[in-house]
Amino acid sequence: MAKYVCKKCGFKTDTDKWLWKCPSCGGVLEITGKVEQPKITLGEGNTPLINLFGFGGDVYFKLEYLNPTGSFKDRGSAMAISQAQKLGIGCIVEDSSGNAGISVAAYAAAAGIWATVVVPKGCAPGKRHLIEALGAEIIEADDREAAGNRARERETQGCAYIGHMWNPWFIKGMESIASEINSQLGKVPDAIITPVSSGTLLLGLYNGFKKEKKMPRLYAVQASGFSPLYDAVHGKSESRPSKLADALQVLNPPRLEEMKEAVLKSGGDVLLVNDEEILTALAKLLKAGAIVEPSSASALAGYMQLSNSGKIKHGEKIVIILTGSGLKYPEIVSLISS
Ligand SMILES: Cc1ncc(COP(=O)(O)O)c(C=O)c1O
Ligand SMILES: [Zn+2]
Repeated sequence: MAKYVCKKCGFKTDTDKWLWKCPSCGGVLEITGKVEQPKITLGEGNTPLINLFGFGGDVYFKLEYLNPTGSFKDRGSAMAISQAQKLGIGCIVEDSSGNAGISVAAYAAAAGIWATVVVPKGCAPGKRHLIEALGAEIIEADDREAAGNRARERETQGCAYIGHMWNPWFIKGMESIASEINSQLGKVPDAIITPVSSGTLLLGLYNGFKKEKKMPRLYAVQASGFSPLYDAVHGKSESRPSKLADALQVLNPPRLEEMKEAVLKSGGDVLLVNDEEILTALAKLLKAGAIVEPSSASALAGYMQLSNSGKIKHGEKIVIILTGSGLKYPEIVSLISS
């Protein structure tokens, strides 16, 4: 049977109860042992890996925005909500700037579980409407930090906290992306570039590729003003906070140490991009037909930095993860045309 394990204090227990953090030391948990395929599914995963016009044959885009709710989060939600249902949980609460909220709301609906999502003020209207339309209750908090605190208050009223940034099931669900990329490409790529906020996708890639033949260099892209991983690796940065990267606003990711390890041990790096670079990248992607949201375009902005500075060698196979759909973002067109 799968177990919860805390690397920090060594706590270990069966997964027959709902835990999102270590009850002994408050640290993050991992799942070890055999994990079943999620029972609750909306058809997540197996997203295309393709070249896009104008970027050359060695650059591949993993279209995670084509997941059922328009983001990679569905891999984690399928696993976490399936586990909640298995344990007979009838009510969950989540904090999210949008995409995780939409995803958790959809999978909770599929599982017949009541959901509350706490969003920060300024949550993109398209995302907010979707969460409501999926039947979840919405609570608004002042900012991303406050949203987490409000969600955990609900926990004390008897709802299970999903807490995707912490949740070991959510992180586990993300691992499937690695073997998919490997089999679609026919080999492990030389480097992967992904936007990073709380690090669930980065850690899914890292943990997933540990089970493959080789580890690609993992490049994490953060948005200016929201850069805890960049600061931890390169020292504190001072820059104007991004307005466009609304999905990348986590300032205190609970898995920061693991995220650092993923980037450094894989031989990758952390990159910082600003709104001008994000907008340029978004325009390029739209021109190639990829309808992504601004936060996702930051990965291409990171790739442009790497290729300009010669960090990507000729002939290397590169995968850029396109994480979230622009279809939730009716404002997207005005961003490009203004
Ligand atoms: C579109 C999009 N890209 C990237 C990320 C960053 O993912 P993570 O928090 O797993 O680092 C998010 C997280 O909300 C997102 O919604
Ligand atoms: Zn512990």
